[in-house]
Amino acid sequence: MLLTRMRGDGLYDANSELQRCILEAVAPLINYAAVRVPIPAQRTFSIVDYGCSEGRNSVGSVKKIIHSVHERDPGKWISVLHNDLPMNDFNSLFENLYAAPESSYLSTGNEEQIRAGSKIFAFASGASFYGRVAPDDSVDFALSSCATHWLSAMPDYSICNHIFHGNATADEARRLGRVGANDWKKFLHARADEMTSGARMVLTMAGRLHQANSADLYPSQNLMDLMNQTLLDLVAEGRIVKEIYERFALPIYCRSVEETVAPLQDTHSDLINKFTVEYAETHRIKCDHFERLRMSDATWYAHEIVESLRAFTQPVIEQGLFCNSFRNDEHLTAKDRGTVASLYSRMKQRVAADPEQYDLEPVSVFLVLSRI
Ligand SMILES: C[S@@+](CC[C@H](N)C(=O)[O-])C[C@H]1O[C@@H](n2cnc3c(N)ncnc32)[C@H](O)[C@@H]1O
Repeated sequence: MLLTRMRGDGLYDANSELQRCILEAVAPLINYAAVRVPIPAQRTFSIVDYGCSEGRNSVGSVKKIIHSVHERDPGKWISVLHNDLPMNDFNSLFENLYAAPESSYLSTGNEEQIRAGSKIFAFASGASFYGRVAPDDSVDFALSSCATHWLSAMPDYSICNHIFHGNATADEARRLGRVGANDWKKFLHARADEMTSGARMVLTMAGRLHQANSADLYPSQNLMDLMNQTLLDLVAEGRIVKEIYERFALPIYCRSVEETVAPLQDTHSDLINKFTVEYAETHRIKCDHFERLRMSDATWYAHEIVESLRAFTQPVIEQGLFCNSFRNDEHLTAKDRGTVASLYSRMKQRVAADPEQYDLEPVSVFLVLSRI
């Protein structure tokens, strides 16, 4: 199974300031959807977060939805399902829920809500969101942030001379586009089955500025180029096998808005009567924290942005370049571990030497759907 999971043991949470900025930027849309979504009279209100990771960001966003539902219906019982892949660090998620009362939604409710008997139940689901995660017709609010650009699988040799699809050749990009489109339809079909009529979905995912595939449509491309160049240096030094590098690419596909809404608006699509698109735009995300550091402390800036990148790429790099069936290895040797550490430390040195070159301002697609 492809490991598209993040680093565990709190390392994703500690290095996900960028994803937190994205959730902050999408917060008005979460609020927009939460004040419009129907609240069922006879049953528990159900929220699902698809691709929650360790939960710091997930828990914060769910808290906003719960707050909004309770403003309209104090005491409403609410269930929250945090979904991610089976190998996700769910222990950290539950620590965020139970050991950090100041940020957890489990202790939200004001006095009036608690008196009204408000109950919130938290659950976890270890299953791919490209299949079913919840029962038919049971989800009132679907949330997913920074997750659905991860593909269900990456065909070998998808991109021979780079690791990121912004640098794929036209043919490679077309093939990847088909994989991205299939996954996206699978995701939407599964959610269509799970969501109740009137339910809302708020989703963010890594995107690109226009339909065409070209490197300048992906801000932060220079960081991907840096990672690729550093990997090539390690190939040249014999620390990574060239053929394995050529076979590998990050299983990420950044959709344009056009690709995102296509299956929902194409009259021939079997998703055409399932959702209304209430909002679909690309946003370029700027994170003040990184901008301030870039101006003031190049070394710390380099550390922070490379650790952010590492939080979501290291498990995939380890599996794809070292522990794969091609090499017939399941575990990293000490030498491999050294190579992985060297990849990220070299990247830090290069960013610190020229911080102006390396921004972390990705493009994100924001989407709000209403289930018909
Ligand atoms: C960058 S993290 C985002 C976490 C959180 N939503 C946030 O905004 O900080 C992406 C998450 O998506 C999860 N993910 C990737 N593919 C998935 C799949 N097919 N099914 C469920 N989760 C998936 C990864 O394991 C990872 O935890």
